[in-house]
Amino acid sequence: MADNKRTSKFDFFVLSMFLVSLCLAPVPTSAQDRKLSFGVNGQFKILQVADMHYANGATTRCQNVLPSQLAHCSDLNTTAFMSRVIAAEKPDLIVFTGDNIFGSDVKDAVKSLNAAFAPAISAKIPWVAVLGNHDQQSTLSRQELMKHIVKLPNSLSKVNPPEAAHYIDGFGNNNLRIHGAAESSLHNKSVLNLYFLDSGDYSSVHNIKGYDWIKTSQQFWFDQTSKRLQKEYNEEPNPQQGAAPGLAYFHIPLREFWFFDSKNAAKGVRQEETGSATINSGFFTTLVARGDVKSVFVGHDHLNDFCGELKGLNLCYGGGFGYHAYGKAGWERRARVVVADLNKKGAGSWGDVKSIRTWKRLDDQHLSVIDDQVLWNSSPN
Ligand SMILES: *[C@@H]1O[C@H](CO)[C@@H](O)[C@H](O)[C@H]1NC(C)=O
Ligand SMILES: *[C@@H]1O[C@H](CO)[C@@H](O)[C@H](O)[C@H]1NC(C)=O
Repeated sequence: MADNKRTSKFDFFVLSMFLVSLCLAPVPTSAQDRKLSFGVNGQFKILQVADMHYANGATTRCQNVLPSQLAHCSDLNTTAFMSRVIAAEKPDLIVFTGDNIFGSDVKDAVKSLNAAFAPAISAKIPWVAVLGNHDQQSTLSRQELMKHIVKLPNSLSKVNPPEAAHYIDGFGNNNLRIHGAAESSLHNKSVLNLYFLDSGDYSSVHNIKGYDWIKTSQQFWFDQTSKRLQKEYNEEPNPQQGAAPGLAYFHIPLREFWFFDSKNAAKGVRQEETGSATINSGFFTTLVARGDVKSVFVGHDHLNDFCGELKGLNLCYGGGFGYHAYGKAGWERRARVVVADLNKKGAGSWGDVKSIRTWKRLDDQHLSVIDDQVLWNSSPN
């Protein structure tokens, strides 16, 4: 903890700068203020891109591809895959779940980030990125990476949520509201809530080895945010019952991912161990206790791409996307798609969220769709 005098001076400085900026600031027009809503088709579609491991572009070779593919394979294949899957799915939002760049092979983090996110930017699709454990291993710290990411075109990332910035651990924690369909009575309500968390990199706690975890401060922020969103959902005008469903995205899997293998997971495969932290910081319990989040989406373990349900919460891997990431030769790089559909109300209008589905796209000739499954239904029967 910093000493109090210093903190209050600093707070005063921040407050003054904030007030000055209020006077000087033009009407906010940044992508971060963009209102996301369900389409006129009553759908909202999210593309998850896990573990691009982007490095320096054309000179960065692919890992674990067939010997015949090796000569003509680089980071540019990761870019090409993204462009193809964006064209095929036309998502409303793209979520990059960390290890976006593979720091230890990166010469210039700014250049690598720009290149890695380029297909999303040129498609003019809003996107969000969280950090993995490798992003910070070159020229930028985790904070500097997020500061750059938030400035990129159509990025909806935040360095941290403003209301929690003074206490929350990590960088890139954020939530997004997805409003009801245009011209429906729920257009001013968030009917789907997205949470993005920084699962960190490596433990910095003496005597605890291995990967990092989602801290108490982040769980507190999640809990507060989820409760606030439910209150808004239940308020006039158009008060709704219960909580709107939520989805959470981060990089490092929770320890509960260990529960599943290729046999008891609903869809998808386990081909390697779960690289979670060695301790359990309790985020799974926090999520189950709150109850609004219906599914968690992570990356980190490129050879696992399953979804399994435990205590009403789906735990899903994205599956490895990037060609400079370790993978399995002959097992296609892949991306996860999530679609939420609204309930139809009379007279061609839309209501709250009816169901949430997911499938994966493979980087093969036809961008094959596999493992289509329902994650959640509003009326379980
Ligand atoms: C990578 O891209 C090149 C150039 O388009 C293509 O010839 C090659 O088949 C791709 N490799 C893989 C593994 O997709
Ligand atoms: C949503 O808010 C806007 C701006 O306050 C208002 O003009 C509009 O009527 C509201 N729409 C609904 C469906 O409540």
